[in-house]
Amino acid sequence: MRYITFALGKGRLAKTALKMFEEIGITCEEMKDKDTRKLVFVNEELKFRFFLAKGPDVPTYVEYGAADIGIVGRDTILEEGRNIYEVLDLGFGACRMCVCGPESAKELLQHHEQIRVATKYPKIAKDYFYNKKHQTVEIIKLNGSVELGPIVGLSDVIVDIVETGSTLKENGLMVLEEVCPLTARMVVNPVSMKLEQKRIQEIIARLRDVIAEG
Ligand code: PRP
Repeated sequence: MRYITFALGKGRLAKTALKMFEEIGITCEEMKDKDTRKLVFVNEELKFRFFLAKGPDVPTYVEYGAADIGIVGRDTILEEGRNIYEVLDLGFGACRMCVCGPESAKELLQHHEQIRVATKYPKIAKDYFYNKKHQTVEIIKLNGSVELGPIVGLSDVIVDIVETGSTLKENGLMVLEEVCPLTARMVVNPVSMKLEQKRIQEIIARLRDVIAEG
């Protein structure tokens, strides 16, 4: 039996996903050691391998088949646009992709003005403004703390993830428009899906049951 390899997006996503896997009997004891510097973890008995990667790299590992299965946010899937199958909405990590800014920016979105949009997600932002709103905008790529954009005068608005809304609130910004809802997803390499159909379908079916039970 060959290994089935899981790539997990580092952080909260991976932690919640591992808990969910435990519920269906997929465990990995060596991963629980907080001090380990190991990168790849193995469950020999079940022939599963796990590794943690930066979120945006998860679809890359899965597209190239270096991982059979990936756990990643829908935001990353949309932004990366990789050739992978999205097979399951895991339900956790719920948040929204939104256009945000100061209240004064509201009207800039209504009159199709040429505005500046700062974001970590240029592809999602471009798709939203060009294809859905038919508004020509200048997109400025940032790598984090995107809320700074309108505050320091880099951009008129931002396209970013809103979870609790507290970052916006504490910085005098608000949601102006919703782009799409987001949750964690399971993705699969198309070739793995054929080669390991039985094992992968079983994982999906068991996870579905866990999700349905809430
Ligand atoms: C994300 C996102 C927002 C914040 C939203 O940032 O980009 O800044 O969380 O969460 P809230 O609505 O609950 O306040 P993250 O912490 O990932 O860091 P980043 O600034 O590097 O994007």
